[in-house]
Order: sequence, then C-alpha cells, then structure tokens
Amino acid sequence: MTKWLSKWLRKFHRWIAVPTAIAIPAVLILKLVGSKELLELWQKLEKIPSILMLIMALSGAYLFLIPYIAKGQRKKRISAKEG
Ligand code: HEM
Repeated sequence: MTKWLSKWLRKFHRWIAVPTAIAIPAVLILKLVGSKELLELWQKLEKIPSILMLIMALSGAYLFLIPYIAKGQRKKRISAKEG
C-alpha cells in the first residue's frame, strides 16, 4: 500500500510541480507589469497558485516522511518474524 501510494504521489508531485513553477513567476510578472484589465481578470483566479503550493507542500511533506514510514514498517515486520 505504501509502495503504491509513494510511487503515485511522487509522480503527482512531479507533474503538479510544472504548473506551479510556471504559475508563480507568471503571477509575479503580472503583478509587476499587468494592465488594469488583466489584474481585474486575475482577481477571479487568484487562489490557483496558493492551491497549487498547498498541494505541493502536502504531497512533498508525505514524500519526506516515506523513508521514516518504511523504516517503521520494516522494524515491525522484523520483530513480528522474530517474535
Ligand atoms: C513546499 C513544499 C514542498 C515540500 C515539503 C517538498 C518536498 C519534496 C520531497 C520530500 C521530495 C522527494 C525527495 C526524495 O525523497 O527523493 C520532493 C521531490 C520533488 N519536488 Fe518537492 N516539495 C515541495 C514543493 C515543491 C515545489 C513548489 C516544486 C516545484 C515547483 C517541487 C518539485 C519537486 C520535484 C520536481 C521533485 C522530484 C520528483 C521526482 O521526480 O521524484 N517541490 N519534494
């Protein structure tokens, strides 16, 4: 289960990284040089970069924890075998 989830989440993190990496500098440029109309249009889409960052942070935090989760499971398996 952990193996399948980690494989899938790594792929997910990698692919969500692409729109995130494009969105964040694009927003910065828009805020710096965007015209009034563009900025008005942007108000409706404002939440997208924050949501992308939140998704990246959550999936990244899980990716960070995978080695420790696997270690815990290995320990449990070994002690069950010995027990
Ligand atoms: C802010 C929260 C984030 C956290 C906590 C986080 C954490 C991680 C972790 C733990 C890994 C796996 C490292 C490993 O074990 O090999 C990873 C991989 C990666 N992260 Fe993030 N990350 C975050 C945000 C981002 C963002 C904003 C981007 C890019 C826009 C990004 C792009 C990537 C890429 C491309 C990989 C390699 C994926 C692969 O091919 O396996 N991450 N991240």
